[in-house]
Amino acid sequence: MKHTYSLASALAATFSLTLAQGSTPSIPTCGPNQPCGSSTPCCSQYGQCGVGAYCLGGCDPRYSFDLDSCVAAPMCQNADYKLNSLDDVQQNNIYLGDASTANWVSSGTPVVYNGDSILLTMAPSTVGTLLMSTHYVWYGQISATLTTSQGAGVVTAFILMSDVHDEIDFEFVGVDLEHAQSNYYFQGITDYDNEQNLTVSNTVSNTHTYMIDWQPDSLTWYIDGVAMRTKNRNETWNATTSQYHYPQSPSRVQLSLWPAGLEKNGQGTIDWSGGLVDWNSAYMQNGYYYANVQEVKVECYNPPQGFANNHGNKAYYYDSTFGTNDTVCTGNNNTVLASFFATGDDPKTDPNASSNTKTAGASSASASATPQTVPGVSGGGNAGNAGSDTSSGSAGNSGANGGNNPGVSGSSGTSQGGGSTQFSQGDSQGSTSSSTAAPGKKVAGSALAFVGFVVGCLVI
Ligand SMILES: *[C@@H]1O[C@H](CO)[C@@H](O)[C@H](O)[C@H]1NC(C)=O
Ligand SMILES: *[C@@H]1O[C@H](CO)[C@@H](O)[C@H](O)[C@H]1NC(C)=O
Ligand SMILES: *[C@@H]1O[C@H](CO)[C@@H](O)[C@H](O)[C@H]1NC(C)=O
Ligand SMILES: *[C@@H]1O[C@H](CO)[C@@H](O)[C@H](O)[C@H]1NC(C)=O
Ligand SMILES: *[C@@H]1O[C@H](CO)[C@@H](O)[C@H](O)[C@H]1NC(C)=O
Ligand SMILES: *[C@@H]1O[C@H](CO)[C@@H](O)[C@H](O)[C@H]1NC(C)=O
Repeated sequence: MKHTYSLASALAATFSLTLAQGSTPSIPTCGPNQPCGSSTPCCSQYGQCGVGAYCLGGCDPRYSFDLDSCVAAPMCQNADYKLNSLDDVQQNNIYLGDASTANWVSSGTPVVYNGDSILLTMAPSTVGTLLMSTHYVWYGQISATLTTSQGAGVVTAFILMSDVHDEIDFEFVGVDLEHAQSNYYFQGITDYDNEQNLTVSNTVSNTHTYMIDWQPDSLTWYIDGVAMRTKNRNETWNATTSQYHYPQSPSRVQLSLWPAGLEKNGQGTIDWSGGLVDWNSAYMQNGYYYANVQEVKVECYNPPQGFANNHGNKAYYYDSTFGTNDTVCTGNNNTVLASFFATGDDPKTDPNASSNTKTAGASSASASATPQTVPGVSGGGNAGNAGSDTSSGSAGNSGANGGNNPGVSGSSGTSQGGGSTQFSQGDSQGSTSSSTAAPGKKVAGSALAFVGFVVGCLVI
């Protein structure tokens, strides 16, 4: 009767469904007993192999080529992020792992609102917006101050997600504004009893602060400073696997607005979210659904008592594919790739290195190689965000990042059977005029985005 869906599993399902239906190049897949090969060593959170951004946040060490393929994860930093500009946000087709250049990575179209907050937007033919912290958290207090979106099929989320799919959630379905859904997962294993509704006053009209207090032994969800639910690790023992099914690995903070109510999604996901999205809804403004995020605070806890894998203080990595708490290490590892063709195994690879600067933050992929470089983005040339919401006045990361719509519409349809010649992230960088060439706003850069792209094509 009751079903809950982790953001991750809903997205993954969404993504693979879409892949099955769309005309897409065959991207190598990865999963249990099926790790990525050496040429595309990094297994993305969507279960596909690639290089570049595939090896950054979300790269799953369990199914990647080896334990060095995924780049080590920038360590937790205490912070009070006032989300009032996009200066601290880099698109996922720009970010190469240097967390000192941006605290947030985005896919989709975040929009500055009133100079004091950021809107996560979701326009027709898009799959919404996702903000991901570049620094990971391995236990801590994490809060987000926000208002949600509303309407059938529209989901707002504030979650912690690890690279091995541990997850701690606040999720808001747009047909129930009086509840926040709290949930948690261990390594993506679905357990329908983990979800619990927390009562809250109207999440659209009232700004609330949602906080996750994540300790090695207990997990508490707070709303406006009031503890609403606690889960102890010792209550999560799974006798089948002889493990605590408790979130225990370094995680990124993620804020998102996404359309669970798309026909392409599983019926369970659609039902959970209250039905199909109405793209002519009165809840939309300026042509999009929106959730408003004002502030995110992170207070890092020390590594747990008895932690023996302390080799430095810059980054997290794993020393085994088990992905459990005792396999987490801290080190002084490099976290930066030289280009979108680099990997954790070969972080300095840069097609332009001989003739050009090596500045990681500025480089982007060249046109000559074939592997996928930004997860959730398929086909040739559609590397990331194409959505430039010119009406929003927040062009900070649209024009600047190069709209890639021509690449998107041109190459995905023509397909390239496993990526022949035309993957061209660098190429399309120049085409900043592209956003005007495409009817409707398209967003790419995540599984969500990919769905949006396909939907966009159908609409067109
Ligand atoms: C991190 O650094 C340690 C120590 O040098 C090394 O053993 C490990 O392979 C590195 N891991 C990653 C993912 O960089
Ligand atoms: C939480 O509320 C939603 C409706 O908003 C409902 O579908 C779901 O079953 C509830 N979950 C639990 C565990 O009661
Ligand atoms: C479970 O863990 C909690 C929090 O650490 C602790 O207070 C409680 O005593 C533990 N219960 C059992 C049965 O060990
Ligand atoms: C225990 O873990 C197994 C394997 O992951 C899973 O199928 C099962 O649902 C879990 N049992 C409980 C009670 O959570
Ligand atoms: C990992 O979790 C186990 C319980 O599953 C605990 O006994 C151990 O202390 C933890 N180790 C670390 C390093 O957190
Ligand atoms: C390589 O340099 C060319 C010419 O400057 C540029 O168009 C392309 O985007 C660059 N590629 C990378 C990977 O930086």
